[in-house]
Amino acid sequence: MISEKDFIPSNYTHSIEKGLYKWSAPSNIALVKYWGKKDHQIPANPSISFTLNNCKTLTSLAFEKKEGNDNFSFDLLFEGKPKEDFKPKIQKFFERIEQYLPFLKEYHFTINTENTFPHSSGIASSASGMAALAINLMSLEKELNPEMTEEHFFQKASFLARLGSGSACRSVKGNVVVWGNHNEIDGSSDLFGVEFPSKIHENFKNYQDTILLVDRGEKQVSSTVGHDLMHNHSYAERRFEQAHENLSKIKAILESGNLQEFIKIVESEALTLHAMMLTSMPYYILMKPNTLEIINRIWKFRNETNIPVCFTLDAGANVHVLYPENVREEVLELIKNELVGFCQNSQYICDEIGFGAKKL
Ligand code: DP6
Repeated sequence: MISEKDFIPSNYTHSIEKGLYKWSAPSNIALVKYWGKKDHQIPANPSISFTLNNCKTLTSLAFEKKEGNDNFSFDLLFEGKPKEDFKPKIQKFFERIEQYLPFLKEYHFTINTENTFPHSSGIASSASGMAALAINLMSLEKELNPEMTEEHFFQKASFLARLGSGSACRSVKGNVVVWGNHNEIDGSSDLFGVEFPSKIHENFKNYQDTILLVDRGEKQVSSTVGHDLMHNHSYAERRFEQAHENLSKIKAILESGNLQEFIKIVESEALTLHAMMLTSMPYYILMKPNTLEIINRIWKFRNETNIPVCFTLDAGANVHVLYPENVREEVLELIKNELVGFCQNSQYICDEIGFGAKKL
């Protein structure tokens, strides 16, 4: 089994003065949800996600050797402009990963980042953002240690991304990624995401995710606080077991292509996630009235047409509408005719299953 120690590098064989890399990393949408964690970003249960294709963060990392190595030194730009309020998060990230990337204090970094999705659309940019930054840092480490295998490169990028934001570790690779130990998934680990190891049924090829932007406002309760409220939660232990069971079920479903069963697990997971919020202490609600309107419309449409469209939610009010590519036209009709009315400024984003981080 791979342990944290395997990510602490031994001496580097090469050196580099300065350079620039650029990577894109996508967002991901969990089918079985990560909700609850232990110290050091270890998940309380395993999760599985579709990597997305269009919702991405593009990050360039310029670096140059500096005098002295007492402090982290970096500038952070968002769409080319300095963004001071992102800096504490990056500072904390650097502190967490320093033991795994001991060169961090030797360089000054300029991190320039932008998203392909609208700012404050309610789409979490932490997964794609942390993944993009982590993999850029791995490009630098690879220059210092050119012998590094491709496998280690991506594994460690996911490992580092996890330390920035848990779900980010599922954004390095595509197209279906598991994070967290699970007895039926070979190679699965609490430390990094792994590509789903079995063959995935044709039905899931180019699976569509249309994200309905219901509420773009700031969330009242952040994911970090939400995870924390799973400690001493009355239903937590049973929930963690259920996630293991649902992952076994979804594994079989991804292999067999059974869309009816897929829908049951995915919708149940979304509602269970929000049930955990409703039953936390203090309790809270991230869904909005329009979230429920959309869910009811999807159910009605599915009952009437038998079209295998379903929804999932992340930690917010937006609705991810999931469906196979061959019913795209019908579902987009539903969205345009009925569902956009429940979106803020009629906004939605068409996405689909994708293949992970790319070097630009
Ligand atoms: C509801 O990964 O954002 O989207 O590790 O504290 O950064 P941190 O949390 P984060 O939590 C995401 C939770 C979720 C479910 C999921 O993506 O599995």
